[in-house]
Amino acid sequence: MYHMSLHKPKKLSTDAYKGVRDFFPTEMAVEKKIFDIWRTTVETYGYEEYGASVLEPAELYRAKSGEEIVNEQTYTFTDRGDREVTLRPEMTPTLARMVAAKKRELVFPLRWYSIPNLFRYEQPQRGRVREHWQLNVDIFGVESINAEIETINIACDITRAYGLKDTDFEVRLNNRKVMNYVTRDVYGLNEDAAHKLSKLIDKKDKIKPEAFEMGATELLGDKAQSFLTLLNSKNFEDFTSNLPQTKEEHVGLAEIRSVIDGLEKLGITNVRFDQTLMRGFDYYTGVVFEVFDLNPINRRAVFGGGRYDDLLSLFGNGKVSAVGFGTGDVIARDLMETYNTVPSSTPSADIALIIIGEQNTPFALDLAQTLRSKKIRTVVDLSNKKISDQIKNADKRSILRIICIGDEEVKTGKLRVKNMSTGEEIVCTEETISL
Ligand code: HAM
Repeated sequence: MYHMSLHKPKKLSTDAYKGVRDFFPTEMAVEKKIFDIWRTTVETYGYEEYGASVLEPAELYRAKSGEEIVNEQTYTFTDRGDREVTLRPEMTPTLARMVAAKKRELVFPLRWYSIPNLFRYEQPQRGRVREHWQLNVDIFGVESINAEIETINIACDITRAYGLKDTDFEVRLNNRKVMNYVTRDVYGLNEDAAHKLSKLIDKKDKIKPEAFEMGATELLGDKAQSFLTLLNSKNFEDFTSNLPQTKEEHVGLAEIRSVIDGLEKLGITNVRFDQTLMRGFDYYTGVVFEVFDLNPINRRAVFGGGRYDDLLSLFGNGKVSAVGFGTGDVIARDLMETYNTVPSSTPSADIALIIIGEQNTPFALDLAQTLRSKKIRTVVDLSNKKISDQIKNADKRSILRIICIGDEEVKTGKLRVKNMSTGEEIVCTEETISL
């Protein structure tokens, strides 16, 4: 049983739990606008919405999410039936579970999206919180890099809808296949060392150059210097020329070239290869990508995603090609603030009914029902305050129109709709009223 202590005199704090946000109506209005952008954009590409519970068995994340997220960032607890439960830190494992469960009945290619709230025990800072909402967009059953091109195209559309121009942001690409080729074939590392090296590269910007170099030397010995030269390549051409030349271009490199070419054909040219882009999750198998604002004030990725062709096979139902991305509400809000595109809030109602004399309340309530049936958003002032106070209140809420309802209006049925900004009045009846 849980019960609130009624005896303690200490006042409860009004603060929200560390790292999570309350959404008061003005903030909620912005949040709704962000969700609107997400929904309308992905639906123009034919994506369908799905949903799931925030609770998942903890083991779902152990297999492939990556150590950092599982060991340090999950909210995990034991339930009353001794099951280990995790508040989902990301949606991809849940989605893979759902698609694997219904694989035989589903019609592929599958285009699905969701807007889940996710929980990560992180140090709260600009762009990072402990509960955020994340649009997830995923496509299943497309083997070719057209899946990458489509999802990156969607990511660019959404970034533009926040108010950024193509010159304001950049898509960064890498390929797990290239990194596997480099670490295993070119540098001869075993799986464990290759994994460690990719985690080291993932941390490159967060640690000192000397620490990075030391880590690389531990794993690569005297080949560390040549690896650092490769990692510091200026661009894609420079990177490929630093690799041993083979008769045919490596498949991973060819994929990167095709994605860049395909996006260019769609008019997206702010794309660049980034050999240091690792992405934290272990399930990616091919192209990985992130979108960044070029304004240094927003240093966190706007979007992150990639191909994960092996994740569904964890559920024993065979392989399904999969590509997708996630993008958060926090960075969306930060971008709108940076680029001055935060939507102004709209008034909560189109019309306020002001009651003069309590005896006229039933008439006002009835009129409100008629207005609402005409899709006019109507609020009735139930305060019983002075007429001037009621008008002030409507004005504070920026409600554009009012109708005063007194004995005269009730007797004659003649109503005056007053426009608060122009002062103009229109006389009508309950039947003829419209805005
Ligand atoms: P992720 O890179 O961890 O990927 O997250 C994607 C995006 O979610 C980030 O770029 C950022 O905008 C936002 N985000 C992540 N963590 C936080 C946080 N603590 N606070 C605020 N925003 C955050 C994934 O989660 C993958 N499961 C995405 C994916 C879908 N891959 C394939 N399909």
